Amino acid sequence: MKFFIDTANLADIREAQDMGILDGVTTNPSLMAKEGITGKDNVMRHYKQICEIVEGDISAEVISVKYDEMIKEGEELADLDENIVVKVPMTADGIKAIKYFSEKGIRTNCTLIFSAGQALVAAKAGASYVSPFVGRLDDISTDGMALIEQIVTIFTNYGYTTEVLAASVRHPMHIIQCAEVGADVMTAPLSVIKALLNHPLTDSGLAKFLADHEKAALPVKQ
Ligand code: E4P
Repeated sequence: MKFFIDTANLADIREAQDMGILDGVTTNPSLMAKEGITGKDNVMRHYKQICEIVEGDISAEVISVKYDEMIKEGEELADLDENIVVKVPMTADGIKAIKYFSEKGIRTNCTLIFSAGQALVAAKAGASYVSPFVGRLDDISTDGMALIEQIVTIFTNYGYTTEVLAASVRHPMHIIQCAEVGADVMTAPLSVIKALLNHPLTDSGLAKFLADHEKAALPVKQ
């Protein structure tokens, strides 16, 4: 399963990249706003900076909601770097834009997926990725992980090459469950990825190893 980081924060992206396990980055307008990135030039510069840090797919989301504007914005984003994947919302105009981009060889990530039907339509339009939002479904007492599993099954049944990118991942168990149900990619904040490293028995075990090592190095009393 590929690990993407879900942030526009350059320090977090660098830290995850330095861990050596990062396969890509997802951003969205809220994450860009959180970093105070506004204005077209700044947004474009920021995506370029992300592309310089990470050798992998970088999802850059269009702000436009009308087909013609999505095409223009998406083409400008795609021109930034070969690793840019144009992130398009799940709407009728978005699906039409995904079809257009896929015919032009521009890769896309269909975002804001909350049902299997939406994912199926996006795959048929030629999306490179679909992004079902696990955490936001869980937030409304709906099983987000069941949706990931359902989409994986449907894509496998028909051999769709569209990758299932589990988004809105909120805690380490989401990551484990994504791997169990066969998501192609999961995207999570740095804190959630780092939480995978932790176990109290690892900490106490390491402390004991080091203490024993120190004890053995002490001079033996005659
Ligand atoms: C993916 O890029 C999504 O936009 C993101 O994972 C949404 O996460 P949230 O539901 O925690 O905002």
